[in-house]
Amino acid sequence: MDLPHQRAGYAFCLAPAMFHVQTDALAAAWRAWLCGVGAPAVLIVAADGEWGTPDRRLLDGIRGELRALGAALVVVTEGRSFCFRPDVDRDEPVPERLATGAGMRALHGLYGVEAAAQVPFTLTLLDEHGAVRAQTSARAEGGLHATLLATLRSAVENTRADERVLFSRREVVLSSLTAALALSFAASCRPHAKPPSPGAPPAASTPSTAREILVTLVVNGETHQLELEPRVSLLDALRERLALTGTKKGCDHGQCGACTVLLDARRVNACLILAVMAQNKPITTIEGLSHGENLHPLQAAFVKEDALQCGYCTPGQIMSAAGLLREKRAHTDDEVRELMSGNICRCGAYVNIVRAIRSVQESGVPT
Ligand code: FES
Ligand code: FES
Repeated sequence: MDLPHQRAGYAFCLAPAMFHVQTDALAAAWRAWLCGVGAPAVLIVAADGEWGTPDRRLLDGIRGELRALGAALVVVTEGRSFCFRPDVDRDEPVPERLATGAGMRALHGLYGVEAAAQVPFTLTLLDEHGAVRAQTSARAEGGLHATLLATLRSAVENTRADERVLFSRREVVLSSLTAALALSFAASCRPHAKPPSPGAPPAASTPSTAREILVTLVVNGETHQLELEPRVSLLDALRERLALTGTKKGCDHGQCGACTVLLDARRVNACLILAVMAQNKPITTIEGLSHGENLHPLQAAFVKEDALQCGYCTPGQIMSAAGLLREKRAHTDDEVRELMSGNICRCGAYVNIVRAIRSVQESGVPT
């Protein structure tokens, strides 16, 4: 049987453990609730005075832009916490259990949010699975509400431009919001990076100018950290900063396909994507297609079938063909022509290009 002083010691040891169990349970409850919002969410954890009572027109504007994006807003303060979802007309309260002091501490721990005593607010962009895509606690010039409205407006504009590219709607919204946040809170928005893998190069130093942010690109299996202005396109980052000039710049407007690369195994026009939107996703350029001295089957087929003349469009044609073969949607010459129609060849080598692609397809060689 325990002596009284032993029982007291036991209880003393148990107290911190119980505190962690409670905090972990609250963190899990936060995550589950945020996932249940069912949309990308802008999470703002703010000191009471920082959120305050926003001007009605600003708030209506913020709601309108969130509706256009299909994104939610979750505001957590000591005094009042609420959620606005794009498909519900009114603000909803955050569950009582989460809006307590203990709940706030669990949220701080879950997303690395600093306590309101240290920073006026932290803005975190979450995807629909509750994963962090970007975070900032920079003081916004012009005030938090006005800057948030400008950010959301800019994201809506980006979304319209990016819907031409092959992404899911939610991915477009998240990428557009990340880019808009980076622009609005330029100096200190931290697009969220996964921890570096073993052997990855050491983290780069702080950005050298106020308008530059750190951007992590994973190109052909190598991780690069670049200091870039948020407006830099993926194409320019590849060519001008990483010296991967195999990816060509033709129109720079998404019309010729010369800049095609694979992003997350899908073909995209690198001139239409901001580098900041391509962070931490695998990017394959023409330089990464071959295995050492061994050409990729498509490269070999283009040579064999004489599918080029000046060669300027060729890297884009090959990368687009690589994406096409993965998609498995083209089964005839006509379907190949249709699905390669975004890649223009001024030399008119189309007949041989289709022949090269079909020869790889029919050979059944893995690509
Ligand atoms: S350079 Fe990108 S589509 Fe023409
Ligand atoms: S080979 Fe010259 S543009 Fe296609």
